[in-house]
Amino acid sequence: MTHPFLGKRVAVVMGGLSAEREVSLNTGLGVLAALQEKGWDAVGIDWKDGTSLPKLLEDHGAAVVWNALHGTWGEDGAVQGLCSCMRIPCTGSGILASALAMDKVMSKRIFESNGVPTPRWRLLSHDGPADGSDADTLADWPLPFVVKPANEGSSVGVSIVEDRAQIAPAIAMARKFHGGVIVEDYIAGTEVFVGILDGRVLGSVEVRPATKFYDYEAKYKRNDTKYLIPPEIERPLVEKAEKYALDAYNALGCSGHARPDLRISQTGDVFVLEVNTLPGMTKTSLLPKIAKSIGMDYPTLCEQILASAK
Ligand SMILES: Nc1ncnc2c1ncn2[C@@H]1O[C@H](COP(=O)(O)OP(=O)(O)O)[C@@H](O)[C@H]1O
Ligand SMILES: [Mg+2]
Repeated sequence: MTHPFLGKRVAVVMGGLSAEREVSLNTGLGVLAALQEKGWDAVGIDWKDGTSLPKLLEDHGAAVVWNALHGTWGEDGAVQGLCSCMRIPCTGSGILASALAMDKVMSKRIFESNGVPTPRWRLLSHDGPADGSDADTLADWPLPFVVKPANEGSSVGVSIVEDRAQIAPAIAMARKFHGGVIVEDYIAGTEVFVGILDGRVLGSVEVRPATKFYDYEAKYKRNDTKYLIPPEIERPLVEKAEKYALDAYNALGCSGHARPDLRISQTGDVFVLEVNTLPGMTKTSLLPKIAKSIGMDYPTLCEQILASAK
């Protein structure tokens, strides 16, 4: 099949205005080099504070956008909306799916109404006391549990509460970010991420952090996290996780590439934590590693993601 954007100028948009700017630059430079290696007329656009993205897209003659941004104003539907208004196709999920996936409260509501299992949860208002002194509302919630901001990524503001004295500080920390605070059951067991492209599961990875959980340090700073492709857990459990990951992707209305995060309990129950609609895409990121395990090299994956732009 001929590529739908053959001969068109590709703008790889990277950097951006979110806290994940540095990670995005790594993704963008990797993708740009891979597309150029494949012979594409690709240009990199570093969108930074004080610059106008629509103007940059026009100045570079962008015919299609490869979205290498992460986080707010990139992953949340904003850039997808801009591209849509400019009539420029953009990779990844559309406006609504991006916005829903970015918001953990909305994601959980969609999961629950579509039979996608997600940890039992409760929403604490963002306007509550900044010091978390409303912690007693959780007096009957069984320990351990997780407290996290509804709209962050990269494990920022996430706490695992094992002791009642930690509840107030955990709520206080999560309240520092915009949006509500989610309290949810801690799922002891295994962490699995599933790679999806165009509604098809490519495979999955079992993540074994050396830290207590897969926190910011384990994600970006340490090199002692183990990534097992394929996962070491039994095959039927992997298949169950992959099924629910795809159900979550479909329930949110995602398209193109995505990487849902799941936990599998010691009793073999699967829970979807979230769907990342713009996962890390450097050469050594998890989705490229999953693709490689089924024989799809990094430049080919970047090119196939480009083909999915809408
Ligand atoms: N309910 C949970 N049970 C066990 N671990 C969790 C739970 N929620 C989050 N975690 C841990 O925190 C990490 C980050 O949480 P996640 O919901 O994926 O948010 P983020 O958007 O920050 O990645 C997860 O990868 C996992 O290690
Ligand atoms: Mg996550």
